[in-house]
Amino acid sequence: MKDSIIPPAARWLPHGTFSGQVALVTGGGTGLGLEISRGLAHLGARVIVASRSVEHHAALVAEGRERGWSVDSRVLDVREPTHVERLALELEAQGGVDLLVNNAAGNFLCPAERLSARAWRAVLGIVLDGTFYCSRYFGRGMIERGRGQILNVVATYAWTGMAGVVHSASAKAGVLAMTRTLAVEWARHGIRVNAIAPGPFESEGAANNLWPEAGMKERIAEQIPLARFGSAEEMAAHALYLLSPASSYVNGECFVVDGGLSLGRNMWQPANGARADARRGRAPRGSPRSR
Ligand code: COA
Repeated sequence: MKDSIIPPAARWLPHGTFSGQVALVTGGGTGLGLEISRGLAHLGARVIVASRSVEHHAALVAEGRERGWSVDSRVLDVREPTHVERLALELEAQGGVDLLVNNAAGNFLCPAERLSARAWRAVLGIVLDGTFYCSRYFGRGMIERGRGQILNVVATYAWTGMAGVVHSASAKAGVLAMTRTLAVEWARHGIRVNAIAPGPFESEGAANNLWPEAGMKERIAEQIPLARFGSAEEMAAHALYLLSPASSYVNGECFVVDGGLSLGRNMWQPANGARADARRGRAPRGSPRSR
């Protein structure tokens, strides 16, 4: 297969890495979830994407048909434990789920004092409750079979905090605690549980909800040591690594993929232009060495 048609996130693992495995990816039809799904499918998994909107499934299902991937979809609201249980029982009857990716999320910027109780509940319901329900119901099958992987998607503001996302930050902090708790609780069943914490990356959902105003994206990029946004494919590559045997001794870990954004930089730091100079191997403009 030509390199150009390999999903970029799947480039770093051997072909067939996930052969014979079944993956369930919540929110798997768009954004980061889509790139994870494409990578898993390309590397041999049977992938089932599950989310509320059937329209979000169409592109991946069509691509799967074209490329000969095994891709399926289900309508699911992860906030509804009975719906999650029903899907888990259905898939269990077909052999069960080996890889669970808890990716479904809801997020938007809203000052805490203006956040309604329903808005708080909506985000906590999707992110925190949904991750627990999926882990619990799909985890039961993994426990029975004595093997499985769970990958959760969190955010660095789960521990740094961030203005405007008290709902999401609180929920993601809970998911991080869940990741570590289930990692120690279920290791004896052969189940690894890990997380990734993506920094800002190009995605329609995030752009609409997290940097909706003109100029915001550029101001955020200015804060990133690598001086650019990531891509969904770069985030997905780390998710695939954590689900693969390449990380077989990694358990309860949260892998930060943010270009260094969450590191403290409270003393001198070069401006973006200086960092571009540094990339070109020149001394920063205005520094003694550049004169
Ligand atoms: N700002 C403030 N409040 C918001 C909001 C926003 N942008 N979006 C939703 N809410 C509030 C609603 O007003 C409602 O509260 P209210 O009834 O007190 O007014 C509450 O959240 C529930 O909203 P509703 O749309 O009925 O719920 P929902 O369950 O259908 O969807 C979300 C909630 C969060 C999932 C939905 O707004 C969404 O899809 N957001 C973007 C998802 C996304 O792109 N995620 C990726 C971002 S990284």
